[in-house]
Amino acid sequence: MTNSTPSPARYYLTTPIYYVNARPHLGHAYSTIVCDAIARRKRALGIDTWFLTGTDEHGQKIERSAEQAGRTPMEFATAISAEFRGLWDRLGLTYDDFIRTTEERHKRGVQKLFATLRDRGFIYKGSYTGQYCVSDEAYVDGPPGIPCPDCGRITETVSEENYFFKLSAFERKLLEFYEENPGFIEPESTRREVISFVRSGLKDLSVSRTSFSWGIPVPGDGKHVVYVWLDALANYITALGYGSDDPKDQARFAKFWPADMHLIGKEISRFHCVYWPAFLMAAGIAVPRSVRANGWLLFDQGKMSKSRGNIVRAETVQEVLGADALRYFLLREIPFGQDGHFSFEALVQRYNGDLANGYGNLVSRVVNMVHKYFGGAVPEAGAETQAETVLRSTAADVIAAFGPDFDEMNFSEALKAVWVLVADTDGYLTANAPWKKPPERSEQEHIAVQARVLATAAEAIRIITALVYPILPESASKVWRQLGQGDIADAARQAFLTDVAWGGLKAGTKFGEPAPLFPRAEKDAIDRMQNLEDQNKKSAVEAAGEGESAAPSPATASPSVVSVQASGHGAGTSATQPQPNPAEHNMTLHTTAPVDSDKPVDTAKVHQVPADVTSTRLSSAPVSAPAGGQLSPADQGSSAEEKPPPAQGSEQITIDDFVKVDLRVAQILVAERVPKADKLLRLEVDLGYEKRQILAGIAQYYEPEKLVGRKIVIVANLAPRKLRGLESNGMLLAASLPDGAPVLASFLEEVPLGARLK
Ligand code: MSP
Repeated sequence: MTNSTPSPARYYLTTPIYYVNARPHLGHAYSTIVCDAIARRKRALGIDTWFLTGTDEHGQKIERSAEQAGRTPMEFATAISAEFRGLWDRLGLTYDDFIRTTEERHKRGVQKLFATLRDRGFIYKGSYTGQYCVSDEAYVDGPPGIPCPDCGRITETVSEENYFFKLSAFERKLLEFYEENPGFIEPESTRREVISFVRSGLKDLSVSRTSFSWGIPVPGDGKHVVYVWLDALANYITALGYGSDDPKDQARFAKFWPADMHLIGKEISRFHCVYWPAFLMAAGIAVPRSVRANGWLLFDQGKMSKSRGNIVRAETVQEVLGADALRYFLLREIPFGQDGHFSFEALVQRYNGDLANGYGNLVSRVVNMVHKYFGGAVPEAGAETQAETVLRSTAADVIAAFGPDFDEMNFSEALKAVWVLVADTDGYLTANAPWKKPPERSEQEHIAVQARVLATAAEAIRIITALVYPILPESASKVWRQLGQGDIADAARQAFLTDVAWGGLKAGTKFGEPAPLFPRAEKDAIDRMQNLEDQNKKSAVEAAGEGESAAPSPATASPSVVSVQASGHGAGTSATQPQPNPAEHNMTLHTTAPVDSDKPVDTAKVHQVPADVTSTRLSSAPVSAPAGGQLSPADQGSSAEEKPPPAQGSEQITIDDFVKVDLRVAQILVAERVPKADKLLRLEVDLGYEKRQILAGIAQYYEPEKLVGRKIVIVANLAPRKLRGLESNGMLLAASLPDGAPVLASFLEEVPLGARLK
């Protein structure tokens, strides 16, 4: 079941398949554009490439969104799926296949996979009562009313007969697999999270639903539909032909599976790095070679998403600046794997700085001068001087750096390297000023200088253009023609990236007509994009209904006992009996608190709760004194312990005292244990305007991997202090229960990062 066999001759890459509850925005375009750039480069390296994208159309969330829009789920899904596909086409994305999970080929494959898992003894019937987040289509561990740790929406209680997958049987196998294949998950932060999640124990996973019908029927038991994540993940094999009897499909599957890379958003790594390999191992199918997680595109201080209402559409940028400007910005501005801020200002700045004034201006100067001085034919460069030797050597360095950087998905670094060559070529041109004849230079000498300088600069441009082709395909294609190189798509088909080297531009080559590449964006470009977005929002009482914002109905208040009773196929044979809540206990809120006390704290009321009304008081958890329990000297790294705050009857303060405390909404990006400190967690939190490290004494109450992504409240203006040699910059806010357990403050509504509590 190893995934390490290299496959240089072919490459299969996939985007996540997009939910059809909301129209595409830049966040979706990001993953698809990254895959497109990779696919283009692979093809231009002569690698037989298959690039898959598509839409995820089943499940309760889509069923509800369709209902709200007054359409059947199929009509609804068809309309939104067409929007995704139409946008990818308008953006010129070169996917080889677009799968819809409502297609027959997919249904057939999912049923085959389900039947295979069952036949091999990995599926059994049981029942599930617990929490479910409809928005994320994920089971959540915790009592009724608990918000989803990923999206913050209130979960719903479901109580159903389900089929379970024996995920628990794969704990050791998965850990061994990660160990043997260290490159399977990247970035490292995601890998660590996934491994620590698996190490914390896997419970069996419910893989069917019975309380709604919009899904693929379980073979032989039509009362159940297949759990939407099992359905969705299977797209990566069903699109290739898994489940088909047609020899052509079978050949495609044999050729391209296992996938070389699944590109995903970081929040869906658990599904791709834990469940998916486990399903495949259980079915006896090879596991993908790698999963790469991209960070989030943030806009106006939060993850760009329809529910936050902070989306920008790719069409807007395309209309005003062109698709290449968007591609360049996304790959240059955001180090892959990290979150990145999108703003029209930053986009226009990059566009003008790097594209209009940089690459575009360089091309225009050189092409125009070759036309003006040499009738549009590349002159003979003649003997090199030191200036040409230096530029040629820079080009060689850039060529050597670009490939490895790009192939390791360091797109930003790869582009930075190319822009060194852009800047140096520009500088070379200016220094040698072929447009200016010094009086002491003879006419003949001057022509020789012009020839040398322009032929050299044009060659540098040819190299720059070849390298950036996968990222700027439209512009590279125009430049290629202007350089007299013909159709760049033909060159790509002939694997022109296999030998990018100095010296390819032959003297005598006839240049094409100069044409503008990146007209400078004037001040109104930002307004135009903003206006397009505003207009779009106005007309956005969308056909899609509420889309992502389809809010789950309020949680049922009934006290729930989460339980699973095994029955039927495989019951009782599992190595581990199913636990109260299957599976999605992972990376979700775990609570040690009594059920009733675990309701999310309405932080809007934080400062209004009189401390003596209830024994549950709100307190700042725990740089040094956790809301629950105090830190041991070992955790503190010194014997100095802060006094716990007074339990009751706090003295009154004025509003002026209160406003001194800067309480802010933050999101946990990283959470990990501090070695040799039982109670301490090291957190990295994002305040929207900055990221910081906080040490919190909650390790005995919260498992770190379950905190990642969660929105919390912090005291932001607390003086920093050091604990166990690490600086802590702030405090978390939590309620302290009578037994000392902290319950982190959280929100029922969406809140932007950095929002102040007052
Ligand atoms: N349907 C599932 C994926 C199933 S794959 C077998 C899903 N769909 S989604 O539409 O919600 O998200 C699809 C992808 O878009 C995810 O990788 C997600 O991270 C990405 N993005 C959505 N908004 C984003 C940003 N604002 N920024 C970056 N990527 C984001 O999850």
